Amino acid sequence: MCGIVGYIGYEQAAPLLLNGLEKLEYRGYDSAGICLNNGEKLIVEKAKGKLEVLKKLTENGTTLSGTVGIGHTRWATHGEPSDINAHPHLSESRRFAVVHNGIIENYIQIKEELSKRGIQFLSKTDTEVIAQLIEYDYQGNLVDTVIKVLSRLEGSYALGIISKDNPDEIIAVRKESPLIIGLGENENYIASDVTAILTKTRKIYRLENNEIAVIKRDSIDIMDMDKKAIHKDVETVSWDISAAEKGGYKHFMFKEIMEQPKAIHDTITPRIKDGRVVLNEIQLTDEQLKAFNKINILACGSAYHVGVVAKYVFEKVLRKPVEVDLASEFRYRDPIVDEKTLTIVISQSGETADTKEAMKEAQRRGSHVISIVNVVGSAIATESDDVIYTWAGPEIAVATTKAYSTQLAVIYLMAIYMGDKLGTINSEAYSQYVDELQQLPEKITAILNNKESIQNLASKNFNNRDVFFIGRNIDYALSLEGSLKLKEISYIHSEAYAAGELKHGTISLIEQGTLVIALATHEALLGKIISNIQEVQARGANVIGVACDNRSEISEVAQNVIFIPPTCDMFLPSLAVIPLQLFAYYVASLKGCDIDKPRNLAKSVTVE
Ligand code: F6R
Repeated sequence: MCGIVGYIGYEQAAPLLLNGLEKLEYRGYDSAGICLNNGEKLIVEKAKGKLEVLKKLTENGTTLSGTVGIGHTRWATHGEPSDINAHPHLSESRRFAVVHNGIIENYIQIKEELSKRGIQFLSKTDTEVIAQLIEYDYQGNLVDTVIKVLSRLEGSYALGIISKDNPDEIIAVRKESPLIIGLGENENYIASDVTAILTKTRKIYRLENNEIAVIKRDSIDIMDMDKKAIHKDVETVSWDISAAEKGGYKHFMFKEIMEQPKAIHDTITPRIKDGRVVLNEIQLTDEQLKAFNKINILACGSAYHVGVVAKYVFEKVLRKPVEVDLASEFRYRDPIVDEKTLTIVISQSGETADTKEAMKEAQRRGSHVISIVNVVGSAIATESDDVIYTWAGPEIAVATTKAYSTQLAVIYLMAIYMGDKLGTINSEAYSQYVDELQQLPEKITAILNNKESIQNLASKNFNNRDVFFIGRNIDYALSLEGSLKLKEISYIHSEAYAAGELKHGTISLIEQGTLVIALATHEALLGKIISNIQEVQARGANVIGVACDNRSEISEVAQNVIFIPPTCDMFLPSLAVIPLQLFAYYVASLKGCDIDKPRNLAKSVTVE
C-alpha cells in the first residue's frame, strides 16, 4: 500500500522523509521518491525498487537541501513500477508536486482533456493529473485551486502538495484514504499512518473525509471544502511501532480482514460507470467472446478456490462449460485446450511458479489468457494476454483474505460483463447484479461489526482435533476456502466436503462432539443441507451453520448459527467467507499460533 510522509520545519527535510518512508516499508511498495522545495525550485529524486536505492542516490538525503518536502512509497496501480511512475509527481512547469494514496477513477478523462490543451504527461499514473490540474487551474491561491481541482476528481485520495512559490506550507487533503498530521515544536508532519512519524511526535490530528489542511512550521489550519475552519482536538497516540504498523490490530491478517469492504469497493467502483460494467482490460471483441466453447481456470490454493466459485458463477450466467484446474496438475496432464478455450488465471502475487507455467502451457496451446492479479507488473500480469488487477493493496499476512475477496469481485464483474456480451443475461438481471455487487462492501461491514459473536463461537470451539466444512453448490466452493483458512493458521485438521458426498464415506469420521461447519446460504438447496445437518447431528456432531438472516429454519437444526445478509446467490461467498476468516483467525489466536506467518508456509511460492 502506498505511504505518504511530509515535513515542514527548520531541519533538513530529506533525511527525515527517508526515515519516515523507512517506517512505512512494511506496507509493501515497489518504488519511492521525495521532493523538496530548496528555496528556489522543487527538487525531486525517485527510484524504482527498495528505499535503499533512493538512499544511495541521495547519499541518505544529504544531496538534497530544503526544509519542506513530501515523500512517498508507491505500490503500483496505474502504470508499472518505474522511476517515472514513482511519486512525487510534478506539474508540467515543475511548479507543484503531489504525493497521492488512493485511486482517481476519472483520470483518463481528465488526462485526455488536458492533453488536448497541449499539456505533456510524463507518467502512466492517475496521480499526475492532479499535479497538472493544479497548475492548469492555478490563479494565485493554492487552497482555492486545490478545492477546485478536488471537485473534479472521482475516487479516493490522501494528498500531500507543495509548491515552488511557497516554501512555507504543505497542503494536505483526505477523501477515503487515511492521512494524519503530526504536531511538533516549530515543525509539523503529514503521514498516511502514524508509524512514519512516531519517533518524532505522538501528537496528531486525524483528517476526516473532505477536509483540507494548510500546514506551516508553526500553525495548522484545517477547513472544509467551503473553507470553514474546523476545530480538532489533539490526539495522543499510545501505540508502539509494531502495533501502529498493524493499524492498532494485533496481526496483519486481522487488519486485512477489516480492509475488505474498502478493497472490494476499490476493485469494483472504477469498473462500474452509470450502472454498466466497464472492463476495458478485456481486449476481446464480442465475436471472439462468443467463439469460445469452454472456459478454463488455472490457479493454486485460495486462488483456486475462487476458481471453483467461478465455475458455478460462469456456468450459471454464461452457459459455457467451465473447467477449474489446480495449476500444478494442469501442467502435467496433457489438457484439451486450444484457441477455442478462454483461460482465466488467478494469482495474488502474480509470481506463483505453478500458475505461471500452467498459463504458459495454455498459451502454447493457443488459448487466450486473462489474468486476475494483485501485484502490478508481476510475471503473470505482464505475460498474460489481458490482465484485470484486483485493487486489494499489498497483502502481508501469508493467509490470504482481501486478495481472495477481490478476486471474487473480479469474477462477478466478468460474469456480468461477459453475460451481457453473450446475451445470456437480460437487462433486469443485469441491473440487479450490478446493484447487489455495489452493496457488498456495506454488507461486509455489517458482518465485520458483528465479529464479537464469532469470537465468542471460536472461544467455545478452539480445541477441536478435526473440523468438517460442508456445503452444496456454491456453498461447497466456499467450504474449500473456509477449511483451508482454518487449517493453515490454526493447524487444526479440517476438510471440506460436498454435503451430498458425506454418506459415501466421510460420515464415518463424525463422532460425538465433532465440529461441523455447515454452509447453508444457497436458498434453493436449504432443505437438502438441513437434511445433511440432521445426518451428522444424529452421529453426535456439533454444528455451526452459516445462513442468510431471512432463513431462520436453520436455527432449528444447528446448535449455533452465524447469520449474514442476503444477496444474489452467486455473491453469497463474498459475504459468507467473512465469518469463516474471522473464525479461523480467532481460533488460531486462542491457540497462540503465529498467525501472520504460519509454519512451513511462504507468501509467494515461486518454486515448483
Ligand atoms: C492461502 C493462500 C495460498 C495462495 C496460493 C496462491 O491463504 O494464500 O493458498 O492462494 O499460494 O498464491 P497466488 O495467489 O499468489 O498465486
